[in-house]
Amino acid sequence: MSVRRLAKEQPASFAFSKDSQAKADWWKAKYPAVRKQSAVIPMLWLAQKQEGWVSEPAIQEIAKQLEMPVIRVLEVATFYVMFQLQPVGKVAFVQLCGTTPCQLRGALDLKAVLKAKIGDANHVSADGKFSWEEVECLGACCNAPMAAINDYYYEDLTPESLAKILDDFAAGKSPKPGSYDGRVASEPKGAIHTLTDPKLYDGSYAKKIKIPNLPEKPKTSKAKPEPTA
Ligand code: FES
Repeated sequence: MSVRRLAKEQPASFAFSKDSQAKADWWKAKYPAVRKQSAVIPMLWLAQKQEGWVSEPAIQEIAKQLEMPVIRVLEVATFYVMFQLQPVGKVAFVQLCGTTPCQLRGALDLKAVLKAKIGDANHVSADGKFSWEEVECLGACCNAPMAAINDYYYEDLTPESLAKILDDFAAGKSPKPGSYDGRVASEPKGAIHTLTDPKLYDGSYAKKIKIPNLPEKPKTSKAKPEPTA
């Protein structure tokens, strides 16, 4: 597990925009007043959505609004890897999965594309538009290799398709997320070799099975109260 620290360079201040503050107020009101700290994760998320990352002034502002120690908000922000603690690319922030299934399917080649087009991991490109990092399994192994770019998954990638996606982002386009080898979702590639008999899933086989009468449930007696120590 990587050490997660706040960025060395921090902005002088942070303020929620009118829209973000309205959303933050909604989250705060969702919980009883004495439990308003429960809004800490949504508020960190709102700060990240607004700025692209979570800065120290944002953490301080959230702690102030939720009346909780700054260290408690810092603990949450540094624990969850979904919170970015340093600036990311304004146009595309790529999270490349480097775990075994994706690696076996070509993630190393994708990494080479990212290095060539953006530069080193965890650094924002000179124009401020792109950055990338390697992450653990993103739960889309069926469509390996894959990457999350901003809010969406891009799957079944090749060096060529990833390069094209980055070029499209650079040109101001919004490349479509999902599979890049024609799959609709995570269905098998090519011919189907399992579940080929429609009877297995069209319900006709199930209708023929007679379900025997179930035995009567034993009468339950009242549960005894838990013994006290
Ligand atoms: S290993 Fe890459 S998504 Fe699971």
